[in-house]
Amino acid sequence: QQVWVEQFRDGEELTITAVTDGKTIVPMPPAEERERVGDRDTGLNTGGMGAYCPAPLGTIALRDQVFREVLQPMVDAMARVGSPFQGVLYAGLMIVSGIPYVLEFNARMGDPETQVVLPLLKTDLLDVIEAVIDHRLEQLSVEWSGEAAVCVVMTSGGYPGAYQQGKVITGLPTTSTASSSSVVFHAGTAQRDKDIVTAGGRVLGVLGLGSTLSDARREAYQVVNTISFEGCHFRTDIAHRALRMSCG
Ligand code: GLY
Repeated sequence: QQVWVEQFRDGEELTITAVTDGKTIVPMPPAEERERVGDRDTGLNTGGMGAYCPAPLGTIALRDQVFREVLQPMVDAMARVGSPFQGVLYAGLMIVSGIPYVLEFNARMGDPETQVVLPLLKTDLLDVIEAVIDHRLEQLSVEWSGEAAVCVVMTSGGYPGAYQQGKVITGLPTTSTASSSSVVFHAGTAQRDKDIVTAGGRVLGVLGLGSTLSDARREAYQVVNTISFEGCHFRTDIAHRALRMSCG
């Protein structure tokens, strides 16, 4: 019988995702998600109530450290043991007093981190994927827009506990009202006759883009506030902490 004892790490979570062809590693901008259902990180854990990118917690120095001490050693080790890794490597980190600890690795992008990271990618994602497959990531210059992104998740009332489905969603942007600085991702929705209705716990992810996190946040909440369905819930403080950090 073995007993595994792990140290509890109390800090701030940060996601750094990278693509690798097994040799070259290209990290993506750092993102932070909020998992608790209620404002100020209260209530039950969910699949993610929102995210923002770039997260101010992921300073250049911290990103360099994660590259040197987490991503590079991991990719090198997998190659050394004869299982070279090609694809997306997701490092879920806990930052404790400025020191990064790995909580988990995933071989995929995160949800809802993807919603705030990929819209900032200027290079065609297909070119990145092909360079990964063909082991020529070193030759590709992967570019990012330099904008900020904030995604607010709208859920069914009661989620992550029991919730009702089939509620009609109104106020979704249309081709004539949609702005180029926002995107509404459908997660748990369905079409019923002419209506879009809820069909899951996490219903929509509303993305706002802007030149700063503050602008992106304003854009996201502007769209969130036009959308409604019976029982709708969302957090009102996505990116609050990041904005407090950026303002010192
Ligand atoms: N956002 C956490 C995950 O995708 O695993």
